[in-house]
Amino acid sequence: MPRTLIAGNWKMNGLRADLSTLKEVAAALPPDQDNPEVLLCVPATLIASAADAAAGSPLRVGGQACHAKEKGAHTGDLSAAMLKDAGASHVIVGHSERRADHGETSAFVAEQAAAAIKAGLTPIICVGETLAEREQGQVSDVISRQIAESVPAEAQPGSFVVAYEPVWAIGTGRVAGPEQIAEAHGLIRKLLTDRFGAAASEVRILYGGSMNPANASEILQVENVNGGLIGGASLKAADFLSIYTAASAR
Ligand code: 13P
Repeated sequence: MPRTLIAGNWKMNGLRADLSTLKEVAAALPPDQDNPEVLLCVPATLIASAADAAAGSPLRVGGQACHAKEKGAHTGDLSAAMLKDAGASHVIVGHSERRADHGETSAFVAEQAAAAIKAGLTPIICVGETLAEREQGQVSDVISRQIAESVPAEAQPGSFVVAYEPVWAIGTGRVAGPEQIAEAHGLIRKLLTDRFGAAASEVRILYGGSMNPANASEILQVENVNGGLIGGASLKAADFLSIYTAASAR
C-alpha cells in the first residue's frame, strides 16, 4: 500500500498571520513520523515563509497551480521552478476551481504536471465530475477522459498523485458516499493499471470534497483511498490534525 498523504488546500485563504495555524500543525507532528505524509498547499505568497516555518518538522508545503512554461512573458504566473525554489515539494494541478475560473483544459493540466515533475515537484492531478455529469450517468466517461488527458506522458507511478474531487462535494458539506468513492477510485486505479501495469499500485489516489474530522475515518478506509485533499477543514489546525490522527490509525 502506498504511503498515505494528508494534504490541505488553503485555496485563496491565508495571510502571514495565519502561519500560526501551519506552525501549530508542524509542532504537533511527531518528528519521527513517516506515515502519513502531511502537506499544506498554501497561497503562493506564503510558500517561502511556510517552508521556513515548517523546517525541521515532517510537514511539507505545496503550491496550488503553476504555469506550464519554465519562464517568460506570462505576467502574473508562476513557474514550477519558482514554487520549488520557494520551498514547495508538491503542487496541485487541475483543481476544478481552476478548470472553471481560468478555463484550464486537461491538456493544459498535463503540461503543468509535466512542468512540475521536471522541476522536481510532485503534482497532485485533480479530476472529478460535476453534479450534472453525475446525474446524466457520465461519471466514468468524465473521469476516464480527465485521467487520459491530464496525466502527462512524462509521468511515472512514483512521480505524481491523483485526487478524485467530485465537484458537487467541494465546499458543500455534501460528501460522496463510500460506494461512490470506491467506484471512482477503483476506476482510477484500473485506468492507471491499464497504462502503467502493476506499478500503478504505487500511485496515491486522494479523496477530496467536504472531508472533515467526522467523516475522515470512514472515507480513509475505502479501498483505493490513499489519503485526502482537504479544503475548509485544513484551515483549522485542530480539524486538520484530527484528520491526520484518523489517517495514522488506519
Ligand atoms: P472542501 O474540503 O472545502 O470541500 O474542499 C475540497 C477541495 O477542493 C480540496 O482541494
